Amino acid sequence: MNSVEKARVRDAPQMHQLINYFADKGEMLARSLSEIYENIRDYFVVRQGERVIACAALHVSWSDLAEIKSLAVAEDSQEQGIGAQLVEACLKEAGELGIPTVFCFTYQPAFFKRHRFVDIDKMELPRKVWTDCLRCPKFPNCDEVALICYLEGV
Ligand SMILES: CC(C)(COP(=O)(O)OP(=O)(O)OC[C@H]1O[C@@H](n2cnc3c(N)ncnc32)[C@H](O)[C@@H]1OP(=O)(O)O)[C@@H](O)C(=O)NCCC(=O)NCCS
Repeated sequence: MNSVEKARVRDAPQMHQLINYFADKGEMLARSLSEIYENIRDYFVVRQGERVIACAALHVSWSDLAEIKSLAVAEDSQEQGIGAQLVEACLKEAGELGIPTVFCFTYQPAFFKRHRFVDIDKMELPRKVWTDCLRCPKFPNCDEVALICYLEGV
């Protein structure tokens, strides 16, 4: 199985293409290349040779809260457990940073619920985490679901 690694700057163009492929289909939020470069240390990737087949980011929001963003697995690489590996890598990193709660906004609640996430009312999350929402074309009529994972022992 391909391993999860921290992203490198040279992965950014492929990550940009992967994320925006799904964003164009309305399945996730688009990211600019500049935004990906600026946050490159947040990202994990899975590579197949030189090709980036999947990515995900863990973004620290506050002392006790982080967000999983931009989780995308190329269509020809889905249903092989790669999405699961990326979520687990993000949760592991949150634990190592001493952050006990990780949330996400998603159209794939069932997938995240299989990875220890539970429903949360968006209004319970601090307003600070809505930065991305403000520039989303769907705002304020968002139909993404908010989910949260409480890490044990952190
Ligand atoms: C949602 C998404 C990230 C899931 O990625 P994935 O790599 O397919 O996820 P996994 O392979 O870990 O799990 C998906 C399914 O494959 C199954 N699976 C996992 N390993 C498998 C294997 N080796 N063989 C067969 N099936 C497998 C899982 O059981 C799971 O099935 P289930 O949903 O019925 O439980 C991916 O579909 C995607 O990128 N979608 C578009 C963007 C998106 O919606 N992102 C969500 C975040 S906003």
